[in-house]
Amino acid sequence: MKQVYLDTFGCQMNVADTDRMELLLFHSGYVRTGQMGEADLILINTCSIREKAEQKIYSLAGNLKPLKMANPDLILGFTGCLAQQEGERLLEKIPFVDLVLGPDGIEHIVQVVDEVKGKNGPVVRTEFDTEKNYSIPEFAGETPLHPGPSTFVNIIKGCDKFCTFCVVPGTRGREKSREALEIEREVRLLVSRGAREIILLGQNVNAYGKRGLKQAVPFHELLYRVAAIPGVERLRFTTSHPKDFTKECIAAYKDIDILANHLHLPVQSGNNRILEEMRRTHTAEEYISLIDELKSAVPDVALSTDIIVGYPGESDSEFEDTLVLIERVQFSSSYMFTYSPRPGTPAQDFPDSVPQSVKSERLQRTIELQNRLTREQGQKFAGQEVDVLVEGRSSRPGADFRGRNPHYWSVNFTGDQNRIRPGDMVKVRIEEVSGHALRGKAVALNRGGKRTLLEQGIPITTG
Ligand code: 5AD
Ligand code: SF4
Repeated sequence: MKQVYLDTFGCQMNVADTDRMELLLFHSGYVRTGQMGEADLILINTCSIREKAEQKIYSLAGNLKPLKMANPDLILGFTGCLAQQEGERLLEKIPFVDLVLGPDGIEHIVQVVDEVKGKNGPVVRTEFDTEKNYSIPEFAGETPLHPGPSTFVNIIKGCDKFCTFCVVPGTRGREKSREALEIEREVRLLVSRGAREIILLGQNVNAYGKRGLKQAVPFHELLYRVAAIPGVERLRFTTSHPKDFTKECIAAYKDIDILANHLHLPVQSGNNRILEEMRRTHTAEEYISLIDELKSAVPDVALSTDIIVGYPGESDSEFEDTLVLIERVQFSSSYMFTYSPRPGTPAQDFPDSVPQSVKSERLQRTIELQNRLTREQGQKFAGQEVDVLVEGRSSRPGADFRGRNPHYWSVNFTGDQNRIRPGDMVKVRIEEVSGHALRGKAVALNRGGKRTLLEQGIPITTG
């Protein structure tokens, strides 16, 4: 068999796209290798969300040149958002590239690779698919599909929000949802192969089912349907947009036991003028009242967010509003960025008077505030027992396993290595908190509806 080396930059959508390409290529005779030097085909699945992501890819491309020079038969491809954004231009920037394929074309990876082989020159594919629906066809028979205990399932692709700073609507195209029946079929298959936690994935999952489906299913209804599939022990979703987050979705948190008490809800800024400039289509007050409603329905819900500081023209006091909002909501963690101008986005042309040093200072202050909130919230877990889905062995010294609690904190813990397996749900007593991570000791194992105590290595089975 031929070998393919796949590397992924960027978000979970890209990780899912890479997995899909691996599966498609497997069925055309390629196995995945971890060694670039052994590969017949190298695919770099790229990201262009911020300038830094883009720079990383160009510097990796520089490192790939000697491989291509040494082996002219090697096929070198760039897929994903940078490929979509740059198209033919990428051939000028990286002249030794053979294949440029946008994210909407990954389903055609095999045909595009074949085209490269049959042609004496590079192939560029950046057109969007013309299908009305988003469908991920299934393969009959055996596939190299070995999901981890926690696995992502795409439910919607693209984004129609057009925030003024963001490349995604340009690189991933319009929102398209998958039929609920197809999603349920995939979840059943994943569960039969060992998945326990399902994370419904999309750029804006709350827009799921808004149009185009043969059978209209709103997002909250999809939550109920997936939660009802036997073997799904925990359910999450990401990413949400505040504008599309409905009361029915809040009700789902109350109704569905296995829907984890965590919500990632990007707010980007706490200032209304900046939110308007960003075209987020909601105010800071609306965001806070949504959060208050959720907190009153689900009192111990953990919240995380995305923040951009130093937007073009952001004043000191507008930035301070973001800090006020972060403190008010009490996020357990945040992804924080300084604004990065992106090609083809409206914000790129906004006049920007904020010096880079001020942007960096603002980012530092935001990080410090979030670190304090994370520390304070972590203390609430100290001495508590939390439910952890075991995802695998821990790389941390002194810990055996790693997983996450429902609030999406990462947990490293010690436990009986003869009894605990990935995919188990264990109770872990938390002994230490550091950053957004907890450490502890497994005290009980829940498997097949039975709870086994693990204290002092003496298993006691309870009802
Ligand atoms: N500059 C900085 N951050 C950005 N993000 C998206 N585009 C930009 C940009 N141009 C951030 C947003 C988004 C997250 C995925 O990346 O916070 O929610
Ligand atoms: Fe980008 Fe806004 Fe769509 Fe999120 S909602 S992917 S930030 S355009």
